[in-house]
Amino acid sequence: MNQEYVFKLCDEEREYLRRELSQIQYDPTGTTSYITEVRMAALRSMPRRIVDCLNNQKASLNPFPYIVFENLPIDNTVTFTPDPQVFTPLAKEGFLSENLAIAIGSLIGEPYSMLHEGHDIVNNLIPSIKDKKEYTGLGSEVELDFHIENAALKFMGDRNYSPCGLALTGVRHDPEKPLTRIADAREALRLLSKNDIDQLCQPLFHIKVPYRWRLSIPGELQETDLVPLIQGDIDLPEVAVAFYPDMVRPANDFAATALRHFHDAIREVSFGIDVTPGRLIYIDNRFTLHSRDSFNPSFDESGSPLRWVQRVIVAPNLWNHRNLNQVKDRVFNPVTM
Ligand SMILES: [Fe+2]
Repeated sequence: MNQEYVFKLCDEEREYLRRELSQIQYDPTGTTSYITEVRMAALRSMPRRIVDCLNNQKASLNPFPYIVFENLPIDNTVTFTPDPQVFTPLAKEGFLSENLAIAIGSLIGEPYSMLHEGHDIVNNLIPSIKDKKEYTGLGSEVELDFHIENAALKFMGDRNYSPCGLALTGVRHDPEKPLTRIADAREALRLLSKNDIDQLCQPLFHIKVPYRWRLSIPGELQETDLVPLIQGDIDLPEVAVAFYPDMVRPANDFAATALRHFHDAIREVSFGIDVTPGRLIYIDNRFTLHSRDSFNPSFDESGSPLRWVQRVIVAPNLWNHRNLNQVKDRVFNPVTM
């Protein structure tokens, strides 16, 4: 992990942020007035160096691949882990983790959610026994290999529905420590031959939408036409790829070889990080991939999973989402795409 991208609050900064954010009632529907309230509190109470960094990320002239925030305030008492799709205020005392994820996201862009990913503006990633073999945030038994979040959604007609970034923070911690892994695609591309990069830059790949999406969108939208995996300058590329099974279909053997080499290079440059309470990681989804290890979830005495991670996805603005079904203020259902 490059320390240039790590911001650690001192205890005094942490407590100031706690005082400001703990006064805000979380609104799971994500109304713009709630987002504004968090944004104003964040601007008042976050250290200037962090506000500067988030503004740079928003402007995107020289974005960081990822940003790690340490020693953040945490919710005092977490009583149990809820059903990930049911808003359960009793599960913990207060909404610091939600407000923190929204604070970071809202200083970079506009937080939102897609219904398949989470019914509330802040998504809960909790291992589910029923879904343990799933290649989603609710799975556990299978490794969720490196991917750009919702990579196929960069190519929905003339619109890009893929988030520009995502924030992950811990609420409860599983002692098994399944790591989230991060890989800056630019470092991986530096390891590849010119020939491989040429293949990746050409429209030689079909990308599928994530598993859960396939249940409710028309067949012709379940995978892209032939598209390139890399667009633009390779020093600051727009990347669209997912390496878990059956997600990218190359058009020929040369493209398949380049894809395999890209996967190897991504693994080589990656590092792991434990998403614990008090730590938040922002991942730039335009050129940074992430993965999650497979693990055996641990449970407390009442059978409640110990791993509870929260996620917020962010778009530069929500103009592209205007034709989707707006289920809640900032929760969209892609069924009308
Ligand atoms: Fe993901």
